[in-house]
Amino acid sequence: MYLLSDDSKELLADVKNFCKKEVMEQSKEYDISGEWPAEIYAKAFDMGLQSLEIPEELGGVGLDSVTLSALYEEMAYADAGFATTMACNNLCVKPIMRSGNAEQKKFVADLVLAGKIGAFALTEPMCGSDVGSTKTTAVYDAATDEYVINGRKCFITNAAVASIFYVTASTDKTKGAKGLSGFIVESGTKGLSIGEHENKMGIRLSTTSDVLFEDVRVPAKNLVGKEGDGFKIAMQTLDGARPFVGSLAVGVAKRALDESIAYAKERVTFGKPISKFQALQFMMADMDISIETARQMVVHSLTLLDAGMPFSREAAIAKCYAGDMSVQVALDAIQIMGGFGYSREYPVEKLLRDAKIFQLYEGTNQIQRIVIAGSILR
Ligand code: CAA
Repeated sequence: MYLLSDDSKELLADVKNFCKKEVMEQSKEYDISGEWPAEIYAKAFDMGLQSLEIPEELGGVGLDSVTLSALYEEMAYADAGFATTMACNNLCVKPIMRSGNAEQKKFVADLVLAGKIGAFALTEPMCGSDVGSTKTTAVYDAATDEYVINGRKCFITNAAVASIFYVTASTDKTKGAKGLSGFIVESGTKGLSIGEHENKMGIRLSTTSDVLFEDVRVPAKNLVGKEGDGFKIAMQTLDGARPFVGSLAVGVAKRALDESIAYAKERVTFGKPISKFQALQFMMADMDISIETARQMVVHSLTLLDAGMPFSREAAIAKCYAGDMSVQVALDAIQIMGGFGYSREYPVEKLLRDAKIFQLYEGTNQIQRIVIAGSILR
């Protein structure tokens, strides 16, 4: 449970309503087709769900992180792919809001408030988790005061539908992680192209693809921060985003628990509903314990973030625990529902496919353990 202000509760009720009516009921169809549901997103953008992380001074609503978590949880309860689209747009917004200059912030805020979204182009085929080994290059051309970007990014959420990209590239190969820099690149820039749409196991209402950069020229003013700041900015962005992966994982797990409870109250065996059997009650109680534990870890890490305190370790703990928890709870929901849980007629097999991503994206759970171990051994 979240402790929210009256305004936040009102907003949460609106978002819940929207997600139930416009997302949850349609998500099965799009999960099967794997198509990006443009009409659902058009309504969500009209409602402003893409602009929740735009600060108040730039025209946004200026929400606190705990309220945002409650909203993301509700979105993922309806559909994790839908919530992923929204959260990954903010992976592009965050580094610019944190490290960009006033002009860059205004440019991005105006775009997002107008219903456009962004993508965070960090991961590459040859160096997924090892960000410091980024192969994409950005070479400064003094004659035109531009950077020329060449390389390939992969598994980029929103790439096919994004209006802007936050791109990490090496401006000095000799310096490794300290030679990385971040750039704002507009879609439609000559030389930028989008690869094949990934046919994913889950989160199928989100779109994921490669992005290719072939002599893509961007004005030098699109450099975010200074040359060499790119690794740090990427890490700070991921720190700030990981708790929200936890929120999404909690949303999926809560849906799995609710689906299994509804089923267990209806399904009669040995003369009574299976919800009356203590073996299943204990399973459901354990699912509830782990969901609430994960939620409170998310809230704790976000409370530290909003208070301006160090929170990398707590963000990694929340993301890692919630991701593992979500997979386990979805598995338990299938177990409670038996053969029906394994059938595509019921939603829980989809929840398991969706939950798996939380152990993978925004840093695998092995990477989270590296971050946690680094913090406790330092
Ligand atoms: N904040 C600020 N600075 C940080 C930092 C942080 N969180 N983490 C590291 N740094 C600094 C270090 O202090 C160090 O600086 P100094 O040399 O000055 O001390 C420098 O950065 C290098 O740090 P490390 O030596 O720890 O770096 P590393 O190369 O060993 O890598 C890592 C660390 C944790 C493995 C990191 O590479 C990482 O997080 N990898 C995972 C990447 C990831 O999450 N990818 C997900 C992609 S996004 C996505 O999934 C979205 C989508 O579209 C679905």
